[in-house]
Amino acid sequence: MKIYKGWHRLLFCLPLVFLVPCLLSVFELRQSSNVEVLPKKQNKKFDHLVLGTAAGQGLPDRLQCQGLKALNKTHFSSSSNVDISRDAISFVTVFAVYNISPHSYEDDKLSNLVTIGNTSYSKAERSMAILHVFINFVQVSMPQSNVIILTDPASKLSVARNGVTVFPIEGEYSRDKLMLQRIKSYIDFLERRLKLHSERKDCVNHYIFTDSDVAVVDDLGPVFQKYPNFHLALTFRNNKNQPLNSGFIAVRGTTDGILRAKLFLRKVLEIYSSTFIKASRMLGDQLALSWVVKSHPSFDAKRFTRPQAFMDEIHGASVLFLPCALYNWTPPEGAGQFHGMPLDVKVVHFKGSRKRLMLEAWNFFSSSDSNISDMLCLVLKSGRTKYDF
Ligand SMILES: *[C@@H]1O[C@H](CO)[C@@H](O)[C@H](O)[C@H]1NC(C)=O
Ligand SMILES: *[C@@H]1O[C@H](CO)[C@@H](O)[C@H](O)[C@H]1NC(C)=O
Ligand SMILES: *[C@@H]1O[C@H](CO)[C@@H](O)[C@H](O)[C@H]1NC(C)=O
Repeated sequence: MKIYKGWHRLLFCLPLVFLVPCLLSVFELRQSSNVEVLPKKQNKKFDHLVLGTAAGQGLPDRLQCQGLKALNKTHFSSSSNVDISRDAISFVTVFAVYNISPHSYEDDKLSNLVTIGNTSYSKAERSMAILHVFINFVQVSMPQSNVIILTDPASKLSVARNGVTVFPIEGEYSRDKLMLQRIKSYIDFLERRLKLHSERKDCVNHYIFTDSDVAVVDDLGPVFQKYPNFHLALTFRNNKNQPLNSGFIAVRGTTDGILRAKLFLRKVLEIYSSTFIKASRMLGDQLALSWVVKSHPSFDAKRFTRPQAFMDEIHGASVLFLPCALYNWTPPEGAGQFHGMPLDVKVVHFKGSRKRLMLEAWNFFSSSDSNISDMLCLVLKSGRTKYDF
């Protein structure tokens, strides 16, 4: 059935002379991994992996791919060069569980099942799968780090995995308040760490707050060494209205770092509550973050137009601005320009409907003998597809 679907689509879009060879190659692809060649017009959302051409081919600093094989090495860290002297790093993410009534759960089961690899997921299972794949990537790319999941105590979330801690924080985790609650939970978490910290001054534990729909594909430890003076780090892009993405916030684990980051986030929360509370429920925190940064008198927003890291002092904190191109890379959707994937990308963010691609990428990586670089070719080639998530 699946193969028939692929043929059918091609019959409409290709002149006859090209049909036979194309049918053969599509046939092979679909047989091997449920993959389809990207059609010209994309107005539907796909329920399976769809590959297009890889952007950025021929550009010297972009990942080069041959099919799903990477021609360049993209990452150099590995568990073999374990550095025992380095500071600990924890990834911190907020995860909310929404109760689905028995009735809607049945509906969900029947009509909304999605399949990735050999596994089908209901809506609720899907978001757990994203969380697990997030943890998987962290453990592959940074095996010495751990993951802390901030959640509603009422959710009774349990994740029985090594290196993973569920950390309940009281709050209002309903869907429409989640972004507001997330900053509150971050602040609350940092406050508690600060108390802990004043008792154990000897060891430093850095924190990286991220969305759970990100894949960490390279070691982030060097950020803390390469830029030794920042308190917190944010990711920026060349976007006039939303230059900062709230999906990645790194905090240095010194008393000063935790304290300044906490005060900075408190300022963001204050602006969020006073000015952007009516903004779309997904964007308020980002608008507030940008407001806090851009309203600082000495801040030069022109620096957002070049993808180079820089530092600035904002609200008493030394803030490191890291380019999204490396630390929060998103495959562009729709009409935006696409220059491919930088070779040293460290974090891929599967925003919105790209979440299917996150699960597909992990499935590809874990069920073949490919490496992370090859998997990034798959992400690159599929970056423009709209998925059903
Ligand atoms: C990943 O595999 C490609 C070939 O598919 C190879 O060129 C590359 O060196 C490998 N990268 C790593 C990090 O092992
Ligand atoms: C990436 O691979 C291509 C093809 O093998 C090669 O021409 C290019 O020099 C490589 N880029 C880097 C930065 O190594
Ligand atoms: C998925 O199913 C195929 C065919 O039954 C099997 O060969 C493969 O090992 C399975 N993959 C995983 C990851 O379980």
